[in-house]
Amino acid sequence: MKVNARIRTPQPDASRWLRQTLGGAAIAATLHGTAAHADAYCSMLHGVQNTVNIGGHLGLAFGGLGWPVKLNYGLTLRVGRQGAGFARIEGMGISALHLTAGATGNIKDSAFLEGGFTGSIGIESAAGIHVAGGPGNPGVGWLLGGFIPFLGSGNAWTGQASLLVFPREICFPSGRALRVGSDFALPPVLASSAFAPVDEALAAGWVGDARAELASVPAFLRLGAELRAVGAPADLSRDAIAAVEDEQRHAAATVALASRWSGGALAMVPLVAAPRFDRPSPAALTELALEAWHDGCLGEGTAALAARWGFARARDGEAAGALARIGPDEARHAELSWRIVEWTLRTGGRSVRNAVSDAGSVASVPGAAAEEDVELLAWNGRLTGRELNQARAEIEQKAMRRLRRLLDTTA
Ligand SMILES: [Fe+2]
Ligand SMILES: [Fe+2]
Repeated sequence: MKVNARIRTPQPDASRWLRQTLGGAAIAATLHGTAAHADAYCSMLHGVQNTVNIGGHLGLAFGGLGWPVKLNYGLTLRVGRQGAGFARIEGMGISALHLTAGATGNIKDSAFLEGGFTGSIGIESAAGIHVAGGPGNPGVGWLLGGFIPFLGSGNAWTGQASLLVFPREICFPSGRALRVGSDFALPPVLASSAFAPVDEALAAGWVGDARAELASVPAFLRLGAELRAVGAPADLSRDAIAAVEDEQRHAAATVALASRWSGGALAMVPLVAAPRFDRPSPAALTELALEAWHDGCLGEGTAALAARWGFARARDGEAAGALARIGPDEARHAELSWRIVEWTLRTGGRSVRNAVSDAGSVASVPGAAAEEDVELLAWNGRLTGRELNQARAEIEQKAMRRLRRLLDTTA
C-alpha cells in the first residue's frame, strides 16, 4: 500500500505568538523609556555608567524554523562595566523564544563582542551557542550574530541583525542647558594625563557640574538676545543677562572643586552661541517656551533643590560655600523661566499653548541609581543618583500643578 507521506512543515501558532508578544511589549516599554531619557541632559559627562543595565533590541532574524525572515526583539540584563555578564530573552518572530546567558565586552567604546549559551523553545526545541558582535558604544550598537544549535533540532539555527539600546543613566545639569538643535553642548575639559584623581566619583560629579555651569553662560547670553529679538518685556531679557554673572560664579566655584578632586588644575574651554531668532515668530516663541519649561522650570528647579539638599548635609567648607550661592541663584533662574513661559502663553497663540501643554503632560522616567559612596558624597554636598531622581520627581510634581494653573489663568 502506498502511503501518502506528506512532510509537515512546522508552522507558527497563535498561542506561541501571544507568549512572544509579551517580549515585544517589554521592548516597546524600554524604547519608550529611552525616548524619555533623551530628554534629560548628560550621562556620559559624569563618566558614570550603571553597573546593572537593562537594554532592548529590535531588528530582523534570518533562517531557522518558520518564516525565513522574521522580527527579532528582546530584553538584555547586563551586569558589569566594560566586560560584563548578560542574560537575554528574545523572540524570533513567532517561531522561537531564545533564552541566552553569556559574557560581553566593549572594544574601545566603538564595538562589542559577546558569546554565550542559548536555549531555544518554539516550533522545535534546541540548545547551542550564541555569538554576536558589532559596531557600537556602551549605549547603542548593532547586534550582528546568531544561534548555532548542537542539541535538539539542527533546523533551529538563526542569524540576527538588530539595533541594541541600553538607556543611559539620567542626570541633571546644575545650570541652564545650552541646546544645539536637539542636543546639548558642553565645554571640553583640558587636563594633564599626569593628574591622579583624589576621588574619582567626586571628580566626575564636580567636572560634570562645572561643564554644565560653564555652558549656562552662553545659554543665558543667547537667551537675553533672543528675548529682545522676539519683543519680550525688557525685564525678562535684563534678568537673563543678569544670570550670566551668576553662572560665571557657579562655573568658577565648581571648576575649583572639580580640579581639587581631579588632582590638578583643569581648564575648560568657554563656548559661544549666536542668537537663533532675529524677529518674533510662532516657531521662535514655541522654542523659547519649551526651553524655559524643560531647562528652567524643571532643570534649574531641580538644580536649586539639589543644591539646597546638598548644602544641608555638606561638611566640607568649600562645597558648602559653592552650594550656598548656587541654590538661591538657580531658584531665581527657574522663576525667570516661569515668567518666560507665562509671557509666551499670553502672547504666542494656540501653537505655543498646545506645545507647552503637551510638554507639561509628560513626566520623565527616573534613571536607575548607580552604587555610590553615600557618606563621602554627603560630606561634599553631593546627592546620590537616587536622591537626584527624587528631587526631579518632586519638582516635576509641583511644576505640573503650577503649569496647569498657569494654562487656566492665561486661557
Ligand atoms: Fe548655575
Ligand atoms: Fe542657572
